[in-house]
Amino acid sequence: MKKIITFIGLITACFNVYAQETKVYNITADKVTAQISPTMYGIFFEDINMAADGGVYAELVKNRSFEFNTALAGWQQQQKNGGSGKISVISRSDERPENPHVISVEVTSPTGYFGLSNEGFRGMGIKKGETYSFSVMACKKLKSNTAITVELHSAKGEVIGKAQLTPTATNWQKYNVKFVANYTDSKASLYVWLKGKGSLDLDMISLFPTHTWKNRPAGLRADLVQKLADLKPGFLRFPGGCIVEGRVLANRYQWKKSIGDIDKRENIINRWNTEFDHRPTPDYYQTFGLGFMEYFLTAEDIGASPLPILNCGMACQFNTGQLVPMDQLDPYVQDALDLIEFANGGLDTKWGKLRADLGHPKPFNLKMMGVGNEQWGEQYIERWKIFTKAIKDKYPYIKIISSVGPYAGGKEFDLLNKTFRGLNADILDEHYYNGPKWFLDNAKRYDNYDRKGPKIFAGEYAAQSVTTGSPDNKNNLECALAEAAFMTGLERNADVVTMASYAPLFAHVDAWQWTPDLIWFDNLRSYGTPNYYVQQLYSLNKGTDVVPLLEANEAVSGRDGYYATACLDKNKKELIIKFVNSGANNQPVLFNIAGVKVAGKANVISLGNTNKTIVNSLDKPLAISPISSTINVTGDAVKLTVEPYTFKVIRLKTL
Ligand code: AHR
Repeated sequence: MKKIITFIGLITACFNVYAQETKVYNITADKVTAQISPTMYGIFFEDINMAADGGVYAELVKNRSFEFNTALAGWQQQQKNGGSGKISVISRSDERPENPHVISVEVTSPTGYFGLSNEGFRGMGIKKGETYSFSVMACKKLKSNTAITVELHSAKGEVIGKAQLTPTATNWQKYNVKFVANYTDSKASLYVWLKGKGSLDLDMISLFPTHTWKNRPAGLRADLVQKLADLKPGFLRFPGGCIVEGRVLANRYQWKKSIGDIDKRENIINRWNTEFDHRPTPDYYQTFGLGFMEYFLTAEDIGASPLPILNCGMACQFNTGQLVPMDQLDPYVQDALDLIEFANGGLDTKWGKLRADLGHPKPFNLKMMGVGNEQWGEQYIERWKIFTKAIKDKYPYIKIISSVGPYAGGKEFDLLNKTFRGLNADILDEHYYNGPKWFLDNAKRYDNYDRKGPKIFAGEYAAQSVTTGSPDNKNNLECALAEAAFMTGLERNADVVTMASYAPLFAHVDAWQWTPDLIWFDNLRSYGTPNYYVQQLYSLNKGTDVVPLLEANEAVSGRDGYYATACLDKNKKELIIKFVNSGANNQPVLFNIAGVKVAGKANVISLGNTNKTIVNSLDKPLAISPISSTINVTGDAVKLTVEPYTFKVIRLKTL
């Protein structure tokens, strides 16, 4: 008897895996329920995890201007062939308060080499055949006869690139030399050798690849920006994140200090430097080489609407929560107004002219701005009111993004949600970092939101495989599918939800503070996570108009672990179905389509695996990535099987 039961059990198990009953769904393609905003799926950028310095900003030298708290951090004194000398750090804070430190290198030996080396950001990523541009600000002491030799060293200590230059002026001048590397190494370092008795003052010692995004000199890492461009994002939110707020107000992001001459952008400590005891990053600073001008340009390059987030007079409430007194808010408000003028103002305005002087006479077409990052409480509300009035009085067309706090619900959320709805706020910025189950359970979150109230920006979200803040969180398929399932709810409610972005965006594999993240990289390579491909599939298959996809007259949102939506792309004349199978079974599905005629073939893109814990990596970047196929369609029905743990996008031409 026991044997028979076991046998029946086995048959049942097999039946579950291979012979699920077909699920039938009905799509009414001529009944549009919502329009999808062109800015729906965007990017959240923050300089966390060495995303900017050490990441997308292609500078290879760490602490190039000696402004870290330890002025020679990242640098080491070097000598060879009997060379000798001395390095002193000099402060000229009266003259150059924004960039006070320089080094004075004195060579005391008539022969040999004396100098210093830089370790880069966990090494330097150098490529064979690539041209590198070395530059330095130098000032020669009278009678000195000192030349500079620049060398790139591989991790093994071999010279893999070399150049020379001789500073000639006794005032500060910039010198530049280009050379080609002959070896690829992700852990190279830079040596700056001085030869010949005398003394040179040096500052802004810099090394960039000449091949950058759009080949802009001293620009951004092309491979990383390409990953952003490949998302075809609707918007680019910058510069964060808590970095907007700072641990203390002195350490907040000030956009005016992030534009103009690179050696005049004041460096500050990155607020993520000391945030997590388990991931200290003492060498993490902000040079602002990626500053507001670069953010605006990047947004323009990749076709994204710029979305700057500004400090509203509050430091991070998870840290000090420092407040600017209400009667001292003016400079903060003025920063917001000036930023709008910088982005959109005519050439006859102060800030519009500066934009033109920096090389961009055309306006950036700024349409929205965040007041505060992830703030909460009455103190936020009173500051928000001042900002909102000032901005709306002068620029009524700017849509204001308002925080509803760090959590998806609870006391802080309820207060802000109620208050801002009462004040007719434009767009509410909701954040949720929760487990995958939360995302599955909340796919209906917006089904009952007020259709006439503020729009929703799902401004920061990511499924956490362990728990928020855990260093063990993984960007695995289970989390990616939970986000895909949740996003069916964003799409279904596109009349309310107009913007969404995963967070954080980037992480250096050797220097991160926060996980999970959308894109991981080292000094030479990068990969998109399964979560990246979910974002990309939504963005590239966004559509224009939502249409009902129902099972027995109900939205497909969790029953038996399935989630689905449908929309039209009226420009391409296509019907797009998105379907998530969050369970372990193969599921045959049948979509009956009414209201449009569809062509005889459909394109099917699948992202899935039988192992839901699978992740991508630098060595296996495409372990989980979209796979395309074609299926035949008979009449007005689409029939296919959705494999376990799979997200499918089905595109049909409409006739
Ligand atoms: O994305 C990481 C952090 O999470 C952001 O800086 C902050 O806004 C949120 O708490």
